[in-house]
Amino acid sequence: MKKIIIANWKMNPDTSARAVALARECEQEIASAKGLDVVLAPPYPFLREVASVLTVSSLGAQDVFWEESGAYTGEVSVRQLKDAGVEYVIIGHSERRIVSGETDDMVRKKIQAVLEGSMTAILCVGERERSGGEIPAFVGAQVRSALGGIKKTLLKNLIIAYEPVWAISTTSGANGSCTPDMMFRARLAIEKVVADIYDQQIAKTVRIIYGGSVSPENIATIFSAGHMDGALVGSAGLNAEKFGMIVRNASGV
Ligand code: 13P
Repeated sequence: MKKIIIANWKMNPDTSARAVALARECEQEIASAKGLDVVLAPPYPFLREVASVLTVSSLGAQDVFWEESGAYTGEVSVRQLKDAGVEYVIIGHSERRIVSGETDDMVRKKIQAVLEGSMTAILCVGERERSGGEIPAFVGAQVRSALGGIKKTLLKNLIIAYEPVWAISTTSGANGSCTPDMMFRARLAIEKVVADIYDQQIAKTVRIIYGGSVSPENIATIFSAGHMDGALVGSAGLNAEKFGMIVRNASGV
């Protein structure tokens, strides 16, 4: 399975000139990386301009709305994202669930809209508090809810990102880092839910990736001991040099 590294820029940088410069620098840094997919996900207003400088990486968006068109002030549709060159859409990030009140039902509708629109959906799941024993049940329930009613044939374009909220660099504080063992247990729980809803074979085709303080130093372990198929990178993705190291270290694994 081809590994994937996704940079979620969140609400950064502050101007389109800076966004384009960062995209260019990232492209230079990853030019020599082979055998894996790389995605840059800038804020909406910078999508088109960032798209115009990408050659190695693909374009991602950080959210979407499920309706096709109409009176939905402030929302952006699947077709509008596609028109801007977007191929990947992050859905249900914890910051959207917590700050913007996104519910499991909204996440499910977005997943359905993106997959039916033949784009790749990156479904984010993860528990808020660090409490080892709870991970499988909580994460499993989030996955089950997000995939309710989604046809099996659409799953080929699904990526599931396990992103424990407490391990995200900007919120982690003293909580420390997610251990490879916890990542692996989350992976098994996600696989099991997908296998329960669909079947074992489908569960093996869904890429399961990790997000939360990913760095050049820990990416190899995330893949080897954590058994992850990729990474969703936040802060380190805003530093082209660090992001380049992550991608290069990842392509060597
Ligand atoms: P950090 O890599 O800054 O911890 O952010 C993770 C994240 O939220 C990516 O979506």
